[in-house]
Amino acid sequence: MIDIHSHLLPKIDDGPETWAESLELCRLMVEQGIRTVVATPHYWPEVYEPQVGLIEQRVGQLNQLLGSRHMDLTVLGGQELLFCPELRGLLAKRQVLTLNDSRYLLLELPQLAVREQLYEGLFQLQMAGYIPIIAHPEKNRMIQRDPGLMVELVRKGGLGQLTASSLLDSAPGKVRTCARDLVRRQAVQLMASDAHSCKGRPPRLRDGLGQAEELLKSRLEAERMVRERPEEIIQDQTLRLPEPKKDKGRKKEGVLTLLCKEVFGERFPARAGNG
Ligand SMILES: [Fe+2]
Repeated sequence: MIDIHSHLLPKIDDGPETWAESLELCRLMVEQGIRTVVATPHYWPEVYEPQVGLIEQRVGQLNQLLGSRHMDLTVLGGQELLFCPELRGLLAKRQVLTLNDSRYLLLELPQLAVREQLYEGLFQLQMAGYIPIIAHPEKNRMIQRDPGLMVELVRKGGLGQLTASSLLDSAPGKVRTCARDLVRRQAVQLMASDAHSCKGRPPRLRDGLGQAEELLKSRLEAERMVRERPEEIIQDQTLRLPEPKKDKGRKKEGVLTLLCKEVFGERFPARAGNG
């Protein structure tokens, strides 16, 4: 399998602290059946801004260590990029990385955003020649409340990457419910580990694959999420994708409602007569 989302380089973001931890994480990946992994350290403005040269240096060092230990795993370079206004400029100057230098970039959405600004931002990235892959949409509160938003983002040319562990019983309820919904709607076309550590957030790609197979009722279709499509992405090829299924008619929430829910919680709006 090919894992397009992982935090396995040491001392660069909230992934491993040491080379030993990094190698142990790689060992777990091999156990899960992963043979190629894209290292995707965070880019969060003012929090994590790793230099591209440093990422590439660590990728090279890790591949050397894996080779010297005869471990069957190849590491490629990439980043997980927080959606922000400066992204297009940073990409143009190659101050942040796409996945293996392809057109495909791994994009983390903010928890709250104006829909139109999201659409416009994605459109601008596409106009610049990039194909945005939304990282773990099931963890985004806007998409949890309205999974139809992810369907809309796919219709507008984006892709969705589910985190494998989100399908497992150990995931929080809202995350798991949304993850299962997105798989059934075919609004996520890729699955990755988003592994950060051996204990806290280990790679669970093989376990997630079994769950995806049950939901899609097809081993072949589930395997496409971790083999064929990730391969096409790292080779910078064009993907042939199924059309996502229509929104089941769930009412979309405006930005004002979303903001009020942030402030007052899930019970907003309070309804009279509910006791
Ligand atoms: Fe991540």
